[in-house]
Amino acid sequence: MITRRMLLKGAGAAAALVGAGGCQTLAESGGISAQLTPAPARAPILGDIESGTPVWAYNGTVPGPTLRVKRGEELSVRLTNNLPQDTSIHWHGIRIDNAMDGVVGLTQDAVAPGQGFDYRFTCPDAGTYWYHSHNQSWEQVARGLYGVLIVEEETPPPVDREITLVIDDWRLDDAGAIHEASFGALHDWAHQGRVGNWVTVNGLPPGDIAVQAGERLRLRVVNAATARIFALKIEGHAAQVAALDGFAVDPYAPTNSVLVAPGQRVDYILDATGEPGGRYALLDDAYTDARPISFFAYSDAPPVRAQFDSLPSLGETRSPPAPDLSQALRADLAMEGGAMGGLGQAMMGGEMKGMRELAQAGRVWAMNGVAGDLDKPLVSTKRGRSVAIAMTNDTAWPHAMHLHGHHFTVLRIDGKPAPGAGKTWRDTHLMMPRERAEIAFVADNPGKWYFHCHMLGHQAGGMRTWIEVR
Ligand code: C2O
Ligand code: CU
Repeated sequence: MITRRMLLKGAGAAAALVGAGGCQTLAESGGISAQLTPAPARAPILGDIESGTPVWAYNGTVPGPTLRVKRGEELSVRLTNNLPQDTSIHWHGIRIDNAMDGVVGLTQDAVAPGQGFDYRFTCPDAGTYWYHSHNQSWEQVARGLYGVLIVEEETPPPVDREITLVIDDWRLDDAGAIHEASFGALHDWAHQGRVGNWVTVNGLPPGDIAVQAGERLRLRVVNAATARIFALKIEGHAAQVAALDGFAVDPYAPTNSVLVAPGQRVDYILDATGEPGGRYALLDDAYTDARPISFFAYSDAPPVRAQFDSLPSLGETRSPPAPDLSQALRADLAMEGGAMGGLGQAMMGGEMKGMRELAQAGRVWAMNGVAGDLDKPLVSTKRGRSVAIAMTNDTAWPHAMHLHGHHFTVLRIDGKPAPGAGKTWRDTHLMMPRERAEIAFVADNPGKWYFHCHMLGHQAGGMRTWIEVR
């Protein structure tokens, strides 16, 4: 059992670590070259700093080291695989050179235990990104193989401090260890995915984030969970959303909780307008009543400023080119399957198979009637063409659709113009059950681009395709 004592002990430890700045960074190295070595490790996800829980980690910590580059800078990373499994690294959200995208089976071969791979690429857009394993990711990410990649604006916005919060959801057994017996469980894959029972922020149980009244903070939030959606709000504050999936938006103070699906990121500007000595929760109310997943703990010091200037925009980032809808190549994407989905049959290995055979092979989802085969792309286009995809979620489950190598704009949801259409750029869109959404982008990055659900058990279970840009 995870006991209350463990929780309390964890909270204290978390306070110390988050207060001290949390993750390790590689700024010392000039921010452009790094080593990432995934290996079994122990991490204090229960708050037990001395002993830790067995995980898989990059360079021994969960999250792995935070990588920081300036926009336009080149990053080179040497991966050395010290895991007992093949692996690779994907740089989620980066408009990257295709050969560096890290998708085993599509853009590179798996990196075997004891082997290495050199990633070298430039980061063309400022924003909050992340990296994670892209081989057997439903297990490897769930064991802790992820980290943050921050691409700084040339002129960063005038904030006093930045705080990065990587949220994860672990499935632990009664002894507090990672529940290994349920890795790959078809029941999970056919439902929401591997939903856990233990939330961490920066690899620690809910704890305190030290704040001083009057500070202006930039919060970078990453959802690294393999299945759980978070719905965030900050008690007692009018925090403004300033970027989604790395891209600046016109800042707004959301009236409802902000949904953050697996793979998505949200940047907030948080003006610390609370009282000295106050404690305000970061709440998640995605599935249950609001529950705290961290606390903004104010010191007793008097406010560092009494008034805040108007909000800085993060809008220095380049916007992707606007898709030309009159000339766009159009495709439909029907998402089917899963529990209560009524999928009768689908193509697998080039043949039509019934549900029993599909389930035996772990394929419980289909896209356009194909259960995970990658022999043909969804769309094949010349470079530079606009592409519009009409996605229909004909299932009983939400799905976080992620496109590699590009950012898209969501044009319409259920027939109505989507908020931010043509202005907001994302790499992952959360599709609600039965939702229909149209997305568009200019296919200007050549290569083979994976397009899949970021509920990673769904991806493995067949919810995947790709887009070819020639
Ligand atoms: Cu963040 Cu294909 O993944
Ligand atoms: Cu899904």
